[in-house]
Amino acid sequence: MILSIESSCDDSSIAITEIATKKVLYHKKISQEAEHSCYGGVVPELASRLHAVALPEILAETKPYFDTLKAVAVTNQPGLGVTLLEGIAMAKTLASLLKIPLIPVHHLKGHIYSLFIEKETQFPLLVLLISGGHTQIIRVESFEHMEILATSMDDSVGESFDKCAKMMGLGYPGGPLIEQLALKGDEDRFDLPVPLRNSPLIAFSLSGLKNAVRLVVEKLGGASEMSEQDKADLSASFQKAVKRHLLQKSKKVFAKEPIKDFAIVGGASANKYLRNAYENLCKEFHKTLHVAPLQYCSDNAAMIGRYALDAYAKKDFIDPEEIDIVSTKKQQAGMLL
Ligand code: KG4
Ligand code: ZN
Repeated sequence: MILSIESSCDDSSIAITEIATKKVLYHKKISQEAEHSCYGGVVPELASRLHAVALPEILAETKPYFDTLKAVAVTNQPGLGVTLLEGIAMAKTLASLLKIPLIPVHHLKGHIYSLFIEKETQFPLLVLLISGGHTQIIRVESFEHMEILATSMDDSVGESFDKCAKMMGLGYPGGPLIEQLALKGDEDRFDLPVPLRNSPLIAFSLSGLKNAVRLVVEKLGGASEMSEQDKADLSASFQKAVKRHLLQKSKKVFAKEPIKDFAIVGGASANKYLRNAYENLCKEFHKTLHVAPLQYCSDNAAMIGRYALDAYAKKDFIDPEEIDIVSTKKQQAGMLL
């Protein structure tokens, strides 16, 4: 068995994955959404303290598996430094005490491996990763070879949903709230700009669209003055502009990349409106669309465990004294996959 730990943001999660069958035998996640909701986003210090309580609580349930553990895997980058350290401290301790190897896992590679948890998917793959921290299109040739083809210049998809939801006073996380409200809205009521529409750049940018949403909120007198219908219409119009932006840039990549299999992963890949749009795009370009089961779209330790299975086979281990974090800030400074 491999025990895997995820604590890169606001979800404390541990999984046990069986090496021989690749099956997830145990998986638990404690989310902190309720605790962060009133702040409209994740407060790192609070998140760190909540991990310090939740992780040992979950670990206690995995004790029956301790004798069978062959390795411990942990997300060590990218993410919030103070929360990554909580998972790493636990993983280092377990690896040292049980005298088993430690596997460092790149969180984004974990998201890619969410596709493999319940079915065997084949490389090569083109992957759109849309999470709270990233928007990227990645060409995944193999476990070792992954290349970023397009990335975000500012706010990620998930972040833009969260910030727009905050502006409308909806709560956190914004993605599911905006998706639900949009179902009751008119997506053509507000003419919001599609980012980089006339730019040849194959990149993503959502801060301009976010500011356009802010201007509409201000024009309508602020969140407190907006009716439920105003919020639903603005949610739908915003979601439509995000979709058009993602599709436009994805089409440019599709035109260049012959790879037939395309996948969407990350928290925002749970969005059905976006999934539907990509289903149609894939039909148009004769590609096969892959998505992870809904429970494995947002952060979870099962995807970290699934990646760790391949890392274990390749003996991709690290000395517990050597493991370190690469925080989101360092990542944004240029340290990519
Ligand atoms: O992958 P994830 O759990 O964490 C990171 O690695 O960042 O993604 C969390 C993000 C949040 O910003 C959340 O608002 C967004 O995913 N999200 C969604 C939906 N569900 C979660 N965004 C759009 N539509 C959704 N249904
Ligand atoms: Zn994530």
